[in-house]
Amino acid sequence: MAVSGMHRLPERRVAHLAGRVAAKSALLHHLAASGVRLVAQELGISQVMAGPEQGRPVVQVPPGTPACDVSISHSKDLAVAVATTGGRVGVDLEAVQPRGPGFHDEVFTDVEQDWLMHCQRHHGREPDELWSLGWCLKEALVKRTGHGLRDSLQQVGFTGWEEHGPLSAVIPGLTDAPGAFCVRITLNSTGPGRETLSGLLALGRGYALAVLHVPEARPA
Ligand SMILES: CC(C)(COP(=O)(O)OP(=O)(O)OC[C@H]1O[C@@H](n2cnc3c(N)ncnc32)[C@H](O)[C@@H]1OP(=O)(O)O)[C@@H](O)C(=O)NCCC(=O)NCCS
Repeated sequence: MAVSGMHRLPERRVAHLAGRVAAKSALLHHLAASGVRLVAQELGISQVMAGPEQGRPVVQVPPGTPACDVSISHSKDLAVAVATTGGRVGVDLEAVQPRGPGFHDEVFTDVEQDWLMHCQRHHGREPDELWSLGWCLKEALVKRTGHGLRDSLQQVGFTGWEEHGPLSAVIPGLTDAPGAFCVRITLNSTGPGRETLSGLLALGRGYALAVLHVPEARPA
């Protein structure tokens, strides 16, 4: 007899599988856009098994294919993945939900709390939406490093972001509804390994999404 399984709950297994399907789809689209046409069976997705980046997804591609990075998130009924061939990515998707002041103080610095409240007023969104978006940003930041929640969320942060206009494409299942919000952003991370990242923020259909990309460091 053999007993195995990544997750005990069937729903968790479905979410895991949906994340892998989303990851392969993102990789195939991204590679095709740069002229590399593959089929899903040619891609492998495993994960770091030990060490400070344990759990981080790892992509296997056929010889001669550019190295890829991928990030995966699932929440409620949706799974999403983001892929790149240059640098590292982090994505987080959350169902918008009420969070109390204890949560705000535990997760966000004073500067971040001021910024999120300012954005909530500026964009005329519900407070819960902006707190959820802030949480997604934090998780996307710790996913792009691979450290996940082993990093203190108070130490890995941002001071705000710059908005660069709406995203022209619709994100199916998220921003294809009235009142959706989707902007391209750049931000500087704070804490160890400060970086400038680009990405997008979205709200729609009761979900919040943050995508962050940090380009590959160029040799000095
Ligand atoms: C990565 C992490 C932030 C994800 O949190 P989440 O919001 O619950 O889940 P999401 O759906 O957004 O993301 C899950 C996906 O993140 C990815 N992931 C897992 N560990 C990761 C890591 N260290 N870095 C980047 N991505 C990671 C996986 O693809 C995972 O999907 P899978 O479990 O189906 O393989 C969290 O699980 C974490 O920090 N894990 C590592 C540290 C840890 O295990 N700590 C224990 C609790 S303190």
